[in-house]
Amino acid sequence: MCGIVGCVLDKPAAPTIIESIKKLEYRGYDSVGIATLTDKINVKKGSGQIKDVDNAIKLTEIDGNIGIAHTRWATHGIPSKENAHPHCDCEDKISVVHNGIIENFEELKKELTEEGHQFKSDTDTEVIPHLIENYMKEGLNLLKAVQKTVKRLKGSYALAIISTDEPDKIIGARNESPLIVGLSENGNFLASDVPAILKETKRVIFLDDEELIELTKDDVKVMDLDLNIKEKTVETITWTADMAEKGGYAHFMLKEIHDEPQIIKDTLSESANIKEIVNKFKKFKRICFVACGTSYHASLIGEYLIETELGIPTEVILASEFEFFKKTLDDHTLVIFITQSGETADTLKALKIAKEKSETLAIVNVVGSTITRKEGAHHVIYTRAGPEIGVAATKTYLSQLICIYLLVAHMAENDELLNKLEDLSEQTEKLLSKEEQIKEISKKYKYASDFFYIGRGFNYPTALEGALKLKEITYIHGEGYAAGELKHGPLALIDNNIPVVGILPPGPSYGKTYSNLQEIKSRGADLIVLGSKNDKNLNGIEDKLLFDNEIDEKMAPLLYIIDLQLLAYYISVAKGIDPDKPRNLAKSVTVQ
Ligand code: M6R
Repeated sequence: MCGIVGCVLDKPAAPTIIESIKKLEYRGYDSVGIATLTDKINVKKGSGQIKDVDNAIKLTEIDGNIGIAHTRWATHGIPSKENAHPHCDCEDKISVVHNGIIENFEELKKELTEEGHQFKSDTDTEVIPHLIENYMKEGLNLLKAVQKTVKRLKGSYALAIISTDEPDKIIGARNESPLIVGLSENGNFLASDVPAILKETKRVIFLDDEELIELTKDDVKVMDLDLNIKEKTVETITWTADMAEKGGYAHFMLKEIHDEPQIIKDTLSESANIKEIVNKFKKFKRICFVACGTSYHASLIGEYLIETELGIPTEVILASEFEFFKKTLDDHTLVIFITQSGETADTLKALKIAKEKSETLAIVNVVGSTITRKEGAHHVIYTRAGPEIGVAATKTYLSQLICIYLLVAHMAENDELLNKLEDLSEQTEKLLSKEEQIKEISKKYKYASDFFYIGRGFNYPTALEGALKLKEITYIHGEGYAAGELKHGPLALIDNNIPVVGILPPGPSYGKTYSNLQEIKSRGADLIVLGSKNDKNLNGIEDKLLFDNEIDEKMAPLLYIIDLQLLAYYISVAKGIDPDKPRNLAKSVTVQ
């Protein structure tokens, strides 16, 4: 996790760099720091979110046209000023920002300490400036010193490095942590992700693993680890700077929920591309989804769809558990990776394993991310959700679902399903109609300490995802269950202190799920039911969120989740929590 930015400009760098690093705060927000170059290295850093550190120590008031900055999600060392990046060498002539984990830092630190190097932090990163210091003292220039240093590192890194000895440049390096170059009229950039540079440029080079970069104001050189120059393609990004702004909403999360009607339309426009990919498929005997978190829940809906529409044995495996299942992979299996970021370390590790034996497909939101590149999946489908900044996935989940439904509809050659998806797009303006009611309901439930979410069949994963949203941004314990499973144990927990969210669309499962809700109600729990306006059985239930259309249980996951996202959002706000930056979490999880 963590976000890094570096730039070499024809004007003072700090104001631009701080604006850029703010756009990466979704990657981590426990501390922040900046270093610029004048005749010396100037560092300002502190623990806390960027706006608070900036208010306290004025991060933008620092001279120099060259600078690097970092926003941190702690791995080694508590969030503190000392552990905040940038980190420097003993003489404060070299400064480094790093995203990733140096796995062999303990042995390197021991060696450097024995040589007399002084360490000021508990981070793994700090070995890097000290190694570079050693190599520069041997007479190497900055680039060669970085080359020698990275050859000694085990683990993942995206690095930006400056030195007073070569005050016109930044050296960068990438291995298993994302890094891009941005090319602009006013100078050049390095960054962890595209939103950081969108205000400055749309011209981007996506870097690959084991590449080094030398960045000056007018030139960018990309090299392999032996310093051979590599030809790289400059790509033009279609995302706009506005897409990564709040656009008048109180939080990114709310804006991103409001983007969802449009996202449904945008992602449906991928139908032809998806059909083309499906046409390339051979007949698979087994399908396996691999993902984490919210993307795992989208995959579960994929499992229900494929099993019911195609009858192909399908399973969903958590990416972090995937290596335990590798023996059953073969060339009759299609492995589908679902990931918003395309950078999740667990998912990328699983992809490496799967590619050894099986055909792979990635469903991903971030263009140019690692899973889409040459070390990535065999086939790529893009969800068209635009940048998602809120840490809790909302619009990207919906766009993943749309891609999965399209994929299955094309694989099954099911025109009825395709038509139902088109119908959904026509109804999109109604999707957010219950927002005020949800806001009211959330005031009542903000004091709850536990919630249950239940659903059956296609809507069981919706229950899991609703509960995850609640946990993530309200810190209330939420548990998703298959409706029929409650009576096998968890019913013992139900009393009048526990609200239960019941997902009850019309369809073949309705009767059984309705009975399960009755069992819960008779034990005193408060019910919040999501269902149809025509459902007369719901008259006696106080809190209900009813849908105008008779959307059946197969399609319901595409609509009902929006209400559950809003419910979690408004409870979070009612509790005074910032839903965009929940504690301990980061959007892009690049550690295993
Ligand atoms: O980028 P990915 O889709 O691979 O990320 C997977 C999870 O880390 C992610 O979905 C996480 O659970 C979200 N914060 C959920 O809102």
